[in-house]
Amino acid sequence: MLLYRSAAWFAKGLREYTKSGYESASKDFVPDDLEVQVPGRAFMVTGGNSGIGKATAMEIAKRGGTVHLVCRDHSRAEGAKAEIIRESGNQNIFLHIVDLSLPKSVWKFVENFKQEHTLNVLINNAGCMVNKRELTEDGLEKNFATNTLGVYVLTTALIPVLEKEHDPRVITVSSGGMLVQKLNTDDPQSERTAFDGTMVYAQNKRQQVVLTERWARAHPAVHFSCMHPGWVDTPDRKPVPTHLPLARTSSSPAEEEKLIEILEELARRFK
Ligand SMILES: NC(=O)c1ccc[n+]([C@@H]2O[C@H](COP(=O)([O-])OP(=O)(O)OC[C@H]3O[C@@H](n4cnc5c(N)ncnc54)[C@H](OP(=O)(O)O)[C@@H]3O)[C@@H](O)[C@H]2O)c1
Repeated sequence: MLLYRSAAWFAKGLREYTKSGYESASKDFVPDDLEVQVPGRAFMVTGGNSGIGKATAMEIAKRGGTVHLVCRDHSRAEGAKAEIIRESGNQNIFLHIVDLSLPKSVWKFVENFKQEHTLNVLINNAGCMVNKRELTEDGLEKNFATNTLGVYVLTTALIPVLEKEHDPRVITVSSGGMLVQKLNTDDPQSERTAFDGTMVYAQNKRQQVVLTERWARAHPAVHFSCMHPGWVDTPDRKPVPTHLPLARTSSSPAEEEKLIEILEELARRFK
């Protein structure tokens, strides 16, 4: 059964997550939908110094939007900012150095950000898959701290900022890898279970989708969506794991409540 499920996931990926998947889906694109210009709108792109985040930031800049790059690595971030300004000719590119795995820094960043800026769109793109169990300086498991808690704190802190603006949106870059995990809040930081970085990443990506559904219900003034970018050839490109059991996609309301409780408690503790 496991082999069948793994083969089913991989076959789905080959069909839908590759270049040929994109080419086939793009036949249904409406050309006018792609001719979007965004002057006067402000976008925050986390992980905007690399891969999908940098390509996204570049495209927004070329279309006239204000871009806030939220990056961890200062020198790579300065390089990306300079490249985006040079290639797009857009000077409205701002850089903010924040490590999203440190919730205190994220809260503090938003406190300062909202004194000086407005925001229409938050793109939660930054993500990591750390393959052995590592802890942040707060003692949090690194994948969970970055992919789930970081996204939770940043989005929660920015919702009031977004709600003040016209057509506010939050887009979270999840992963098709989440299909291999159902929501499980028993051991969110892998303290008791054997550590498998791929599965921890997949669980975090599932948690992002659950959070997106909850936010969308709680904050109707903001448009929330999440997406899988396909298998993209970036520095962080994931090796395809050898066995990936597909999990059912629904999660119980009780399990969702527990996730929120865990995140609220940590977000409060590290404020
Ligand atoms: N590539 C794929 O095939 C694929 C498939 C499915 C989903 N995704 C998702 O797509 C998103 C972008 O990934 P990518 O492929 O473009 O990888 P990437 O080029 O490695 O980009 C990841 C970005 O996240 C940033 N980041 C990681 N941890 C951070 C932290 N603690 N604080 C702030 N920034 C942090 C990295 O910053 P540093 O420069 O500081 O490391 C980097 O800019 C991720 O969420 C990933 O899970 C990718």
